[in-house]
Amino acid sequence: MLRHLLDMRALDADTITTVLDTAEAFGDLAARPIKKVPTLRGRTVCNLFFEDSTRTRVSFEIAAKRLSADVLNFSAKGSSVSKGESLKDTALTLQAMGVDAIVVRHHASGAARQLTRWVDAKVLNAGDGGHQHPTQALLDLFTIRQHFGRLEGLHVAVVGDVLHSRVARSVVQGLQTMSAGVTLVGPPTLLPMSADAWDAEISHDLDPVLGKADVVYLLRVQRERMREQFIPSIREYARLWGLDRRRLGELADHAVIMHPGPMNRGVELTADVADAPNTLIAQQVTNGVAVRMSCLYLMLGGEQREQPAAGDGRSDLSAVARR
Ligand code: CP
Repeated sequence: MLRHLLDMRALDADTITTVLDTAEAFGDLAARPIKKVPTLRGRTVCNLFFEDSTRTRVSFEIAAKRLSADVLNFSAKGSSVSKGESLKDTALTLQAMGVDAIVVRHHASGAARQLTRWVDAKVLNAGDGGHQHPTQALLDLFTIRQHFGRLEGLHVAVVGDVLHSRVARSVVQGLQTMSAGVTLVGPPTLLPMSADAWDAEISHDLDPVLGKADVVYLLRVQRERMREQFIPSIREYARLWGLDRRRLGELADHAVIMHPGPMNRGVELTADVADAPNTLIAQQVTNGVAVRMSCLYLMLGGEQREQPAAGDGRSDLSAVARR
């Protein structure tokens, strides 16, 4: 049984494989006329979102409902947070109502981990500041494995605003754990100072990277997190690091394009490239439901097991893979 899902660094290769294999079974369920199983009947999952979301919030809701859990959707807008209630008191209020799992998105890095210190419920990190977004990384790994049949030995170019991206941190760690190679591509201002320690190749020029990539993974330009001028202009960004029809022609025939969403058409990629046949963007969204079902199932399903010592969640996630 999984305890918390906070950070991709806590997941070893066996654990990731278990999550992806379990998601495959739940993916098959989506093709059936009745898409529901009774696995989490009687359990309550709360989506606690302090930041906007479409894909993550909705797919967690669908995932929990397909597992027959009761679902509460809490958004900071319209709640007592606007009257000054803290994250801790909000969490304790939910705990007092008996929720079994909290799916949390928060603007502060570390908010999900902090929550684990206050509540007994399982905590799933749905994005904390610029830190981590583990279920996004897991659904990306699932989508790549589904397409290529493997992860090991593939080469993924992660392009754009790495600096502000919790998705980049999470997906790069997941790819490396699964023995895939990574090149970080972007202007020096949008790569973190610590990028040298990421164990990835680095390029400030997109064109030379395109021909050797199996996957081009485009990151959203996060203008809402930029407090300074990181790029000369959006037009300049699109010209130098955007994927357009000419650059599409430079890709290997087998290469695919991914984007975690929401995408800025005309910035990270042109509108026609977004709809090209070798994009897996819609598939990523579809797979998000199965992967989140897998995470909820592995964390809440099955018999109760011994509680782990307080820590980073590694012990529980790894324990699943050993079973
Ligand atoms: N990829 C992602 O996290 O999208 P949302 O912000 O819509 O959830």
